Amino acid sequence: MVRKKEERRYAKQGDFIRLAIEDDCGFIGRLSSEVFSTFGDYGETVPQWFVNSGIITVTYVKNGHPLGFAMLSVLSGEILAIAVIPKYQRSGVGSALLNHIENLASRLGLITLLLHTAKDNDVAHSFFQKAGFEVLGTQEEYYPRGQPALIMSKGIYHNR
Ligand SMILES: CC(C)(COP(=O)(O)OP(=O)(O)OC[C@H]1O[C@@H](n2cnc3c(N)ncnc32)[C@H](O)[C@@H]1OP(=O)(O)O)[C@@H](O)C(=O)NCCC(=O)NCCS
Repeated sequence: MVRKKEERRYAKQGDFIRLAIEDDCGFIGRLSSEVFSTFGDYGETVPQWFVNSGIITVTYVKNGHPLGFAMLSVLSGEILAIAVIPKYQRSGVGSALLNHIENLASRLGLITLLLHTAKDNDVAHSFFQKAGFEVLGTQEEYYPRGQPALIMSKGIYHNR
């Protein structure tokens, strides 16, 4: 049982996570538009973050096709976005991406990971809570369309 749970934190056999490449930009824009558009014009904004040198983007790939992505701001230690194609949600892809980002953060020497997620996004709240994130507080009118956000954080384990 423990082993099964642990496996869900990694890409499944045959799948892999890699640094995003320019070809992923269209996918990142379309998926952001699909899952984040109630909060703002993220279909346009998120691909612009991709070209920012202070932001690392990783992509989960299955059979040569991207299923999800995650973005980390190296300077602030903030997870700016994480998303999985709706059809592939709830099968461990998000957990594998988050685990990958946590490992990157550890290697970069970050002490804490931060993120904002919409206050009424119960799925994301459960997802991050299950991964060990705690709510630090609320930020009113955080999103361009005015919704409030929860601020969540998690300490990063350093294996020295
Ligand atoms: C949040 C998101 C990235 C999670 O990705 P995912 O691949 O579906 O997540 P996982 O399959 O790894 O789920 C891990 C855990 O999160 C929780 N979780 C995920 N989806 C859930 C759902 N629909 N309902 C309740 N809990 C859920 C569960 O605890 C799950 O563990 P379990 O399946 O063993 O019960 C995905 O739902 C998504 O892309 N949502 C839209 C974009 C978004 O809201 N991003 C977060 C804000 S930036």
